Amino acid sequence: MSETILTEIDNGLGIITLNRPERHNAFDDALIRELSESLVKMDTDADVRVVVLSSTGKSFCAGADLNWMKKAAGYSAEETQRDAVELAGMLRLLNDMKKPTVARVQGPAYGGGVGLVAACDIAIAAFDAQFALTEVKLGIIPAVISPYVIGAIGERKARRYMLTAERFSAAEAYRIGLVHEIVPGEAELDEAVGEIVDALLANGPAALGECKALIKAVANRPITSDIIVDTAKRIARVRASAEGREGMAAFLEKRKPSWMSKTN
Ligand code: COA
Repeated sequence: MSETILTEIDNGLGIITLNRPERHNAFDDALIRELSESLVKMDTDADVRVVVLSSTGKSFCAGADLNWMKKAAGYSAEETQRDAVELAGMLRLLNDMKKPTVARVQGPAYGGGVGLVAACDIAIAAFDAQFALTEVKLGIIPAVISPYVIGAIGERKARRYMLTAERFSAAEAYRIGLVHEIVPGEAELDEAVGEIVDALLANGPAALGECKALIKAVANRPITSDIIVDTAKRIARVRASAEGREGMAAFLEKRKPSWMSKTN
């Protein structure tokens, strides 16, 4: 029975909640393991079409648990690397989910907490959310989160915030592209997340997975003839699929596509 993570599945929506509020949802080995297990379960459960990552308490996530990191510093080189690989693996699982993921962010999100936000497809934050890449302040580096953070905010902004470790506001997180939307309080946060979830649930479930794979294949690549051929192959395959045919037929016949009746 999980302690550090709560999960719930309701009408196509899977909710994963970090549940270590007394430690500001900092991740130790148990939380990393349980979060990884939940991500795999949600991604393979046919009843789940969209995943929301949220947390209990006043912080979204205070990053890696510093007691765990300190303890791990006394491990052998092999054990330390195994720990780091588990953390890196958890972030990769989140980033590579086939289903769309939405981060619901309140309060501080520091270090690895920023990594979680950056690895989700969509992030919505309350005005009280605060962000910081504090690692260098602690004499360490934001290594395993760096691919996702740099992917989200770009190298230029990463240079500033990774090197200064300064705190930045929800408004700044919005400005630099770490979060997509900011809202005044928790009630508005739930409302905004609900709207995004509804929009996602209205879309073809297989198309969403295909779309995520498309973005990954195309982003940050030069527009070569290989890319052009690849994109043409993708649309040819998807439009001939059962879901593609159903979606287009539903539009032309002025009715809801079959996948909408499953959730709405
Ligand atoms: N790892 C382990 N314990 C943590 C933690 C972390 N990342 N973040 C907070 N805690 C613990 C505190 O040590 C404290 O423990 P205590 O009650 O035994 O003293 C408890 O959580 C409450 O934290 P506190 O600092 O008193 O709460 P706060 O509301 O004033 O501040 C934070 C909350 C999250 C802003 C602050 O704790 C903080 O900055 N944490 C460090 C976050 C960080 O730099 N993470 C990156 C790690 S790479």
